[in-house]
Amino acid sequence: MAVLVTGGAGYIGSHTAVALHDAGHEVVIVDNFANSSPRAVDAVRALTGGALSFVEADLLDEAAVRGIFEQHEISEVVHFAAHKAVAESVQEPSRYYRNNLGSLLGVLEAMLEHGVDKLVHSSSCTVYGQPAVLPVAESAPVGAASPYGWTKLMCEQIITDVCAVRPLAAVMLRYFNPVGAHPSATLGEDPNDIPNNLVPLVMQVAGGRRERLAVFGDDYDTADGSGVRDYVHVVDLAEAHVAALEVLAAGHDGAAAVNVGTGSGSSVLEVIEAARRATGRPIPYEIVGRRPGDIAKTWAATDLAREFLGWQAKLDIDDMMRDHWRWHSQNPDGYGR
Ligand code: UFG
Repeated sequence: MAVLVTGGAGYIGSHTAVALHDAGHEVVIVDNFANSSPRAVDAVRALTGGALSFVEADLLDEAAVRGIFEQHEISEVVHFAAHKAVAESVQEPSRYYRNNLGSLLGVLEAMLEHGVDKLVHSSSCTVYGQPAVLPVAESAPVGAASPYGWTKLMCEQIITDVCAVRPLAAVMLRYFNPVGAHPSATLGEDPNDIPNNLVPLVMQVAGGRRERLAVFGDDYDTADGSGVRDYVHVVDLAEAHVAALEVLAAGHDGAAAVNVGTGSGSSVLEVIEAARRATGRPIPYEIVGRRPGDIAKTWAATDLAREFLGWQAKLDIDDMMRDHWRWHSQNPDGYGR
């Protein structure tokens, strides 16, 4: 019996595929390489001693999805495959809704048809917007500020509704800000074009590819005025999926949303400082205006992750910067294109 990892060539999916293998699971990856590279699959294969099945398919292709369930003995699904760029989602909402909702629905329907009743779903802390109370707990009000955010919220709703009436149990992991890379430096984040996220940009500055970092605002209501996020090491995050599958295997029923963060926040300036320590390089920056749509600060309440999943983050911001830098400095062009 195998775990189907959709989007398993992506940043979090590839690390999770390795963690699942290391925990003794058989893994089948499906990916269409819309925003990932076949070399990530090669890297997972190398780290798992070749024990990996891979299917290239688009999850909107219903026949292809059915084929996966017919050809492999799937017992659980970890669903990552989705578009994830906030600004792009504002420009192309229908593409985001079609892809992110359609992919989930295709997978869910195939699961139900084939009697597969355990799902771990990739969600995001974006569903909280700017929380009124920090740390933000899973019971906090949810909403969305972008089509991307709406797709995450709608997917959670779809899963919750299906779990209520069908033999399906699900854990929906609300990721905070994943950074870092596999310690082997063979797996990491490979943003195409110009990265949107802070840490890949910081690494490009450290590596000399970019002259300086633009810090989006120093007038937020935070200790140093820059935005605060809960950065979580992607290897820790991958482990959370393994823990979620264990909870499902133990017979948990229904749908549960669980935060995956460290429980503490770092400001943009603190991330820059940590990157300086890890890289030994200067990270020149300039303060520019706020980025539209950004919130001031968020970090996770981690009680539920600890109590329900038995999971907590082990790695800190220095580990994240060290591993992200190792990956970036050894693979300045990511997987190459
Ligand atoms: N930042 C900068 N300069 C940059 C890039 C980012 O100062 O060049 C700042 C942002 O303003 C923010 C922090 O760095 O304060 C983190 O920004 P990221 O873009 O790395 O991450 P976000 O928290 O904005 O976005 C993340 C995910 C999204 C998700 C969003 C919602 O990447 O997928 O959280 O919480 F939707």
